[in-house]
Amino acid sequence: MNPLRPRYHFSPQAGWINDPNGAVRVDGLYHLFYQANPHGLVHGPMHWGHATSVDLANWTEQPIALYPEASGQCFSGSAVAAREGRVAPELAADDAILLFYTAHRDGSPYVEDQAIAIADRGMTSFRKFAGNPVLPTPGPRDFRDPKVIWHAATQRWIMVVTHGQSIGIYSSSDALSWQAESEFGRSEGRHGTGPWECPDLFPITVEGSGEQAWILVVGLGQGHISGGSGTQYFVGDFDGQVFRNRHSAETELFMDWGRDYYATQSFSGLNGEDPLAVAWMSNWLYANHPPSEDFRGSMSLPRRLTLIETPHGLRLGQRVDEAVRAAFDPLSVAAGTPATPSSAAYRFAHRWAGEVGDELTLSLFGEADPVFTVRRTASDTCSVTINRGAHPAIAPERGFATDFTIDIIHAGPLDIDVFVDHGLVEIGCAGGLHWFSNIYFPADPAGRVTLAA
Ligand code: FRU
Repeated sequence: MNPLRPRYHFSPQAGWINDPNGAVRVDGLYHLFYQANPHGLVHGPMHWGHATSVDLANWTEQPIALYPEASGQCFSGSAVAAREGRVAPELAADDAILLFYTAHRDGSPYVEDQAIAIADRGMTSFRKFAGNPVLPTPGPRDFRDPKVIWHAATQRWIMVVTHGQSIGIYSSSDALSWQAESEFGRSEGRHGTGPWECPDLFPITVEGSGEQAWILVVGLGQGHISGGSGTQYFVGDFDGQVFRNRHSAETELFMDWGRDYYATQSFSGLNGEDPLAVAWMSNWLYANHPPSEDFRGSMSLPRRLTLIETPHGLRLGQRVDEAVRAAFDPLSVAAGTPATPSSAAYRFAHRWAGEVGDELTLSLFGEADPVFTVRRTASDTCSVTINRGAHPAIAPERGFATDFTIDIIHAGPLDIDVFVDHGLVEIGCAGGLHWFSNIYFPADPAGRVTLAA
């Protein structure tokens, strides 16, 4: 058994995985599909792997759902129950689940079209629709990662999809014939050198007020604030045609400041519960290179999302889903006294009441160097530094090592919520307003934990 196989973060038995795809809850069972190359440890011919869970903490790997073929590899996409809206009769019986994926055909240039596969409600059989593609490329080379939702107010399906360095918004009254509505983001938020990938769009309620807003999630393959790949989001309004940013075009918001939180996707089929999102815990800078002999890649913990009114505007708050939190071994950690976890999958929380000039460091895995340092630099500001040393198996130019520092606006005691699972570390701060997710490959994943004030 690989000593670094995570216990509660999904990882495949064998082979490579990247983005979560087709996250959906059907009849009480969570289905998570994902980009998979079951026959290699690097990104390769893309299949959709499949896993299920009743509690979001314990996952069972299922047979591969979609296979690459001459019509293309199966790149990222999403899943919806046909009965959430209305679909063309040739597409599906009412109780079918529709998987929207990108058919990616290699070549120079490569070609990307949107396609559908149809699954039964139990998700045991999958058939690619004979009429694919349902949305051929309108031109941009990067045209992929369809996320489809039913928009009740206009009684149409909405698809958000990578459009080069922006997000295309399409609509359909039957999930089969699609029309372009608008495009968002060419001059908004953060841009790197590559396309915006893996968009997501969902409504959310502002905590306390009951007011509704919309979140547009966008993956930055390169150029994330902490380096390489990462997830940004926009808070806005959506009328079924156009997404309007409520913040200024320059505002940059991130779902996670860490290095390993990418291709974030929310679950469909939640019937109005708070949105629930999951991400791939890696980064295209070095994803193909970490040491491993059996599998490479894992998912984040699923996090529930709320929208919080802060002095700086609306921000996403995220908390690890309650059932997942409860699965981790609780560890009691006091500043100044090293604690020894009873397993390599543990959690602890700490309230830090540092004054201006004070500093708190967190060291994990029995190692001396801190992975996380927070300093109070002003009464309303803390600076957080994430440290990760170079890994001997990963060439230095891949940028695995990091000492990224970010200021977070926060007055008063700072709550820190830490989840550690065989080297995967997710740290939430300030009631889940700031997250830092990073992967480590420690020699002793259950090694001592030290908080030093
Ligand atoms: C994001 C991504 C997607 C694409 C998939 C291919 O990580 O590049 O845009 O669909 O991975 O595996």
